[in-house]
Amino acid sequence: MTAILPHGGTLINRLVEGKEREALLQKVKQLPAIRVNTWTISDLDLIGVGAFSPLTGFMNEEDYRSVVENMRLADGTVWSIPVTLAVDEQTAASLTLGQQAALVGDEDGVFYGVLDVTSLYQADQGEEARRVFKTDDPEHPGVKKLLERPSTYVGGPVRVLNRPLPTKFGEFYFDPVETRRRFAELGWKTVVGFQTRNPVHRAHEYIQKTAMEIVDALFLNPLVGETKSDDVPADVRMKSYLALLEHYYPANRTFLGVFPAAMRYAGPREAIFHAIVRKNYGCTHFIVGRDHAGVGDYYGTYEAQEIFSNFTAEELGITPLFFEHSFFCKKCGNMASNKTCPHPKEEHLTLSGTKVRGLLRDGVCPPPEFTRPEVAQILIEGMSQQISS
Ligand code: ADX
Repeated sequence: MTAILPHGGTLINRLVEGKEREALLQKVKQLPAIRVNTWTISDLDLIGVGAFSPLTGFMNEEDYRSVVENMRLADGTVWSIPVTLAVDEQTAASLTLGQQAALVGDEDGVFYGVLDVTSLYQADQGEEARRVFKTDDPEHPGVKKLLERPSTYVGGPVRVLNRPLPTKFGEFYFDPVETRRRFAELGWKTVVGFQTRNPVHRAHEYIQKTAMEIVDALFLNPLVGETKSDDVPADVRMKSYLALLEHYYPANRTFLGVFPAAMRYAGPREAIFHAIVRKNYGCTHFIVGRDHAGVGDYYGTYEAQEIFSNFTAEELGITPLFFEHSFFCKKCGNMASNKTCPHPKEEHLTLSGTKVRGLLRDGVCPPPEFTRPEVAQILIEGMSQQISS
């Protein structure tokens, strides 16, 4: 085990196995059902394996309100993003406080888990949006998702009976207990976690490797849960990460494992959440660059770094490593940031996401100073398949 404790001190395990599972699987058939979508199934599973420690279930009203207002659970533990279960009126009417409910996949009818109903409450989603996303603009992808859900939430501890099965890249799914064990076996005392929902471009590589200079290893932990439709699909990204690792990273100091969570696009608050979850996976450090988990112009470039000053090092327990906006400087002849490069903007190679997507769609590799050719090639192929399908 790495020395770092999980958030709240204990790695939560809500998976049920063996005879107990068999018995519960019989019982859930008689319980009122809550239909759950892919997003909720992924939250349930991440609670189950302890990635969301100390959460043991979907938030009750007290925790929810405290998280929305103060970025803390009711007991004071730092937690920045509500993890809630929304139900429609008809489902809410079928539930009774103090009783259990079955969590059933709405697409496949699988009994994913069981919930002890301890709290049933009305959320003020406008307020939630303004506090968590800093906007209630329905165009914001996270706010849009939030407002699409019913505003009645049900909270309580869960137990997991069935786990969602990865359709691809199953060998890169590791539960926190496994990553912790692997890091320890590898002798890594300090591990830096890297969140991404994008292919790894040179700027990402630069900040990762700069961090790797001061820690034992990198945990490349791409988010592969639900993302907005114009983000690069996870399977294309996975191929690009593998190509990059094979050619440019030391195998004995890197570990690739996916983060099967949905992307919230909550910028600063999501940066805190991302850091805490990576602590649960066993990371001691976490990279926060420019506009972490941001979208459009909703957040300031460094807001996701500034938010960390609300908490003490002890209560966070994982050390954030902040990086300035990085770029390739033609004069320096290498990657740099304004902290290390004295040259004017004109010397810096910066390409917008739209520009890069346009190049890739036309089958053109962006400059190698922006994206490694091995990565660009995979993205070009991925895009052409998307267009033809
Ligand atoms: S995120 O939504 O998952 O945060 P992305 O995959 O773009 O998006 O970023 C992953 C991490 O790299 C984040 O910490 C982000 O702040 C950082 N990052 C991305 N691009 C740059 C850059 N050019 N300079 C510095 N940091 C960056």
